[in-house]
Amino acid sequence: MPVSHRLTAPAPGWTTTTDVVVVGSGVAGLTVALNVRKAGLRAVVVTKAMLDDGSTRWAQGGIAAALGEGDTPEQHLDDTLVAGAGVCDEEAVRVLVTEGPDAVRRLIAIGAAFDKGADGEILLTREGGHHRRRIAHAGGDATGAEISRALVSAVRSDPGLELIEHALVLDLLTDADGHAAGLTLHVMGEGQRDGVGAIRAKAVVLATGGMGQVFSATTNPAVSTGDGVALALRAGAEVTDLEFVQFHPTVLWLGPEAEGQQPLVSEAVRGEGAYLVDADETRFMVGQHELNELAPRDIVAKAITRQMQLKGTEHMYLDGRHFGAEMWAERFPTILASCRSHGIDPVTQLIPVSPAAHHASGGVRTDLRGRTTVPGLYACGEVACTGVHGANRLASNSLLEGLVFAERIAADLADRHRSGDLPERAVDVAGARAARSVPLPAPEARAEIQRLMSRGAGVLRSADNMAATAAGLALLAEEAHAHAAEEKPADPRVETWEAANLHLVATALVAAAAQRRETRGCHWREDFPERDDAHWQRHLITTLSVATGAPVSTPEEH
Ligand code: SIN
Repeated sequence: MPVSHRLTAPAPGWTTTTDVVVVGSGVAGLTVALNVRKAGLRAVVVTKAMLDDGSTRWAQGGIAAALGEGDTPEQHLDDTLVAGAGVCDEEAVRVLVTEGPDAVRRLIAIGAAFDKGADGEILLTREGGHHRRRIAHAGGDATGAEISRALVSAVRSDPGLELIEHALVLDLLTDADGHAAGLTLHVMGEGQRDGVGAIRAKAVVLATGGMGQVFSATTNPAVSTGDGVALALRAGAEVTDLEFVQFHPTVLWLGPEAEGQQPLVSEAVRGEGAYLVDADETRFMVGQHELNELAPRDIVAKAITRQMQLKGTEHMYLDGRHFGAEMWAERFPTILASCRSHGIDPVTQLIPVSPAAHHASGGVRTDLRGRTTVPGLYACGEVACTGVHGANRLASNSLLEGLVFAERIAADLADRHRSGDLPERAVDVAGARAARSVPLPAPEARAEIQRLMSRGAGVLRSADNMAATAAGLALLAEEAHAHAAEEKPADPRVETWEAANLHLVATALVAAAAQRRETRGCHWREDFPERDDAHWQRHLITTLSVATGAPVSTPEEH
């Protein structure tokens, strides 16, 4: 099916051609790029800011894999399935946990330096939901930064790999058969590649990361505006599990008005023995779950939220004073510095924490080769829904997912290339603009979307509060249509395109969350407080209606 909806944008003023265009430069995107190059394919990496500015570099805790003595992929699989609350795709999880350890070893071979003990073995920590020490880390609590450094350095040393930084991807281009044939993008630069352009390609890989900016407070960087999911929806792809947004339990609480990216206090801090306490310094996780503070993340986030409601406070506390100054400095230097920069000294003080949006467990639906439902369009990393996370991602499984499924995408592209199944695609770049244009919201819509979503579709949801959020989002769409009809449309530019992407993703997320009338994993309904396996142990698939452009969610057949 050809792309039916597009962002309003000027016609592309320049065009370039490649074999594979990869959008995003986190662990997933760069792994695809490096591996397709090994297969002899040309590749262009498009990234919204600088190569190392995505979500990967913010990952603290680490990367989970059965690397330790006595640990096995089977045990990792069990923990992942329990956290996923009945809706993981077991085959995808099996791929993740069995291919994961070697994928990590290949990452080490590229140059990622993980923390090691005196015996030269990789040090492993624990996080929520893991029954074993299985999380490899780097620089103490700077794992993502080290992985990003190693991959960026490998990418930069390949002169054949073309990089386009500061570029916002707009829409997919397809050929007459509906096969992905490239994309349009806007480069925020100067010179030859300035403004809106097009990249023709034989295949397109989305690795654009998350959508945390759809909420007011998130651990995600400002660039995480759901661009990949929005593009895929407009291109007619299926997205799944959008309602399962993971709220990280322990984000540094900076006050009631704090907005945008908030500092994370890694679960590894609890993994090394910190406690969650209330203002009276009472541990409230004890007795709630066999793993206490290391229960799966949804359980801890809910317990903190309940405790905040019970005590009428806006945060709880993390107590790591017993670590002492040396351990804080050696094991958690990033978190120590970040807390201190906000006036909290974890060596002597409790750390105020509350949950904030952290990870999208759902996304663009893929099979085990990373193929989406649009031929030639692939997705990996947080933008994708491979089925490994189910209703609640197990801590530190996301870097691993990005790595493993990126390698699989590259292998699939290499196979197709070898077998002649990756031909040039004919695309009429100008004609492709005939699809219906989505009127753009004003840039101020971004803050309003975030307020609406935090109020109505955050940690605790109900039919009433989601209806209010859906109505607010519909009003923003009506305003955009009215301005377009009066010939006073918002200018096509980065702020309005991002607002349009956030609006689409928010609308789709609320449509799915309103439909799922049960509580499961990180989807918590106060009006349907129980898990309902009979009706809801399945995925919700969301697509855009070709006629109206509205997201429609349908439960998958049993
Ligand atoms: C953390 O360090 O707590 C975050 C790890 C993750 O989200 O997997």
